[in-house]
Amino acid sequence: MSKQKNHREPWLKGTTAEHCDVAPQAVQHPYRLVLLGAPGVGKGTQAELISERLGACHLSTGDIFRAAKNLNPCDRTPAIEAALGYMKRGELVPDETVINIVRERLDCVRCRGGFLLDGFPRTVPQAEALGQLLISENLKLDAVLSYDLPIEQIVSRLSGRRTCATCKAVFHVTTLPPKMEGVCDNCGGKLIIREDDRPEAIRARMEAYERSTAPLIEYYRHKGLLRSIPAHGTPEEIYERTAVALARKH
Ligand code: AP5
Repeated sequence: MSKQKNHREPWLKGTTAEHCDVAPQAVQHPYRLVLLGAPGVGKGTQAELISERLGACHLSTGDIFRAAKNLNPCDRTPAIEAALGYMKRGELVPDETVINIVRERLDCVRCRGGFLLDGFPRTVPQAEALGQLLISENLKLDAVLSYDLPIEQIVSRLSGRRTCATCKAVFHVTTLPPKMEGVCDNCGGKLIIREDDRPEAIRARMEAYERSTAPLIEYYRHKGLLRSIPAHGTPEEIYERTAVALARKH
């Protein structure tokens, strides 16, 4: 069953860590990971499993923008307002906006439970900014997990995705169906199709991925951090491959 996402208020709203509802565990090894992969490959689904089992917090930049959509329009900054337009069209939000947003949330990056960055970095300038930020905090990435799947399977994952309008839990019409069609198992909220899961936005997102994000695979391979993980099979099978990849040195 799809799980209700925790609130991660400091990440989603940019508040300070004292408002965090995910009590950071002093884990023996705080994992600091980046998740890479095309839109819809299943990064969010894996992030939830990894977070549950390894304790690191799921930090998704896409979730920040989706949370901002629920804000009263007068509470949105012009940069956030513009970001929502880019997102709706399936285009990337400008680097400067995204980097500033992550900088404002340094508390989450410093978290002693570790982090799973999902959707950031998405361009080489963002990767360079993350590198600088980690150096300034004296932190290191453990690995960059890169999920691979043929495009037709990705499109089928994206087109069948349904998201709870209330608690943001993620379902799929065939691979992870809710008990009652259109209704969230966790909170009874309405299941909706994400605005950027329309065919024209999917096309734009795939193009943006190929143009701007795919080059990060070589960028991180060069740094010896890349772990390529085949993303076919069930979420559980992919998690098993992820755990093996994390145990590998290179
Ligand atoms: P973001 O939210 O990051 O979206 P994305 O990268 O396009 O990824 P998705 O959330 O669509 O997919 P996913 O890989 O997490 O798949 P999921 O697990 O849901 O970004 C959205 C937008 O925000 C961007 O387009 C951009 O505009 C903006 N943005 C965000 N960060 C930015 C940045 N750094 N710079 C610039 N702009 C930025 O799975 C998909 C479906 O498949 C689900 O229904 C799931 O149930 C199902 N599924 C998952 N795993 C499996 C499996 N193993 N088998 C069968 N079905 C599965």
